[in-house]
Amino acid sequence: MIEPTDPEKKRSSRRRFLAGAAGLAVAGATGAARADEKNLPPNVAGWSKQLGEGVASHPYGAPSKFEKDVVRRDVQWLTASRESSVSFTPLHELDGIITPNGLCFERHHSGIAEIDPNDYRLMIHGLVDKPLTFTLEDLKRLPRVNRIYFLECAANSGMEWRGAQLNGCQYTHGMVHCVQYTGVPLKLLLEQAGLKPNATWLMAEGGDAAAMNRSIPMAKALDDCLVAYRMNGEMLRPEQGYPVRLVVPGWEGNVWVKWLRRIKLGDQPWYTREETAKYTDLLENGKARKFTFEMDAKSVITSPSPQAPLKRKGFTVISGLAWSGRGKIKRVDVSLDGGRNWRTARIDGPVFDRACVRFYAEFDWNGAELLLQSRAIDETGYVQPSKAELRKIRGVNSIYHNNGIQTWALRASGEVENVEVG
Ligand code: MTE
Ligand code: CO
Repeated sequence: MIEPTDPEKKRSSRRRFLAGAAGLAVAGATGAARADEKNLPPNVAGWSKQLGEGVASHPYGAPSKFEKDVVRRDVQWLTASRESSVSFTPLHELDGIITPNGLCFERHHSGIAEIDPNDYRLMIHGLVDKPLTFTLEDLKRLPRVNRIYFLECAANSGMEWRGAQLNGCQYTHGMVHCVQYTGVPLKLLLEQAGLKPNATWLMAEGGDAAAMNRSIPMAKALDDCLVAYRMNGEMLRPEQGYPVRLVVPGWEGNVWVKWLRRIKLGDQPWYTREETAKYTDLLENGKARKFTFEMDAKSVITSPSPQAPLKRKGFTVISGLAWSGRGKIKRVDVSLDGGRNWRTARIDGPVFDRACVRFYAEFDWNGAELLLQSRAIDETGYVQPSKAELRKIRGVNSIYHNNGIQTWALRASGEVENVEVG
């Protein structure tokens, strides 16, 4: 909100602001700091009295130093080693639908492979007429497309199956990002190699020390998968698979193989570690679901949220993200009373197939305690379930594919807590 420029009004508005924020001592809360009078109108601010840095100081730009708290974070007890590491997107600090490259969550099974692009090769072999090897330059010479997609790790919200656990949407929902990829349709590469009639599956393998690999059915490979080398215009970041990763729209992040080195065509799935011991869903009856590739529709209110408390009463904007692995998001609903009453949120910005959408719901907060929820509805008519509904089918032994409705309890102090409603 714009502060009044009249100094008298400004002081009183600051008093109101401080009164509203009284009792708020939330770790990680940003802003709310006292301004330096010297820099405020009618004074001429310090930065207006001297020359600024020239262009040479930052050949590759970085965010303002005042945004130093807007960073990926990890949870020490969750993954403390390079054999299995994860960092989370600071969703509560972002807006719009595009995740800045430096803030995209990372998930590595053996750390970040450092690949010299000159030594990079992509092999295609197995049930093909002509095995092929592509250099990065080869890939860049082929016709390319630009697509905006979300990527969500199947384990996103995985710690919440048995109840509210982590206090912050960065940790409960931060294994998702949404960027624009530039790359070659996988179909094109497969056609160049020539598929044998019995080639019904492929195995994609990464060049990292884990050689992480997954089986993908041919119909998906020929439909919309990309062999991508750019994200948001620049080359992939090392942590996102530089120089080349597989893009598998709408499907669980694990199959988006990074540092892609090999594609083998076969006539059945490989049943690799990542699709047997991991990335299967243990059900209530002891059976495990396999190959649950598609990500179900999901949403989360990113602000207010535990790391983004409300600092004052009055007009405020609820903001959040929604996405679905089955197509476009059609509608997002928001509830202030734990799911008893719903109203339609306002989606603003582009709505792409299998990309994040940004939603808003404005309201006047009178300081009452609220239970904030959002639910996504996609173009197939699928409605994001409550956690109770989800557990009826899935039990509580799962890790992956938790798309239950998130509840944030907004306290009278403005603080927000991760809770569950019955
Ligand atoms: N590919 C390789 N080669 N090695 C990996 O560890 N992690 C997978 C997938 N691809 C992984 C990989 C998992 S579990 C996820 S969720 C996504 O990459 C994460 O992609 P990101 O790090 O770009 O967010
Ligand atoms: Co993952």
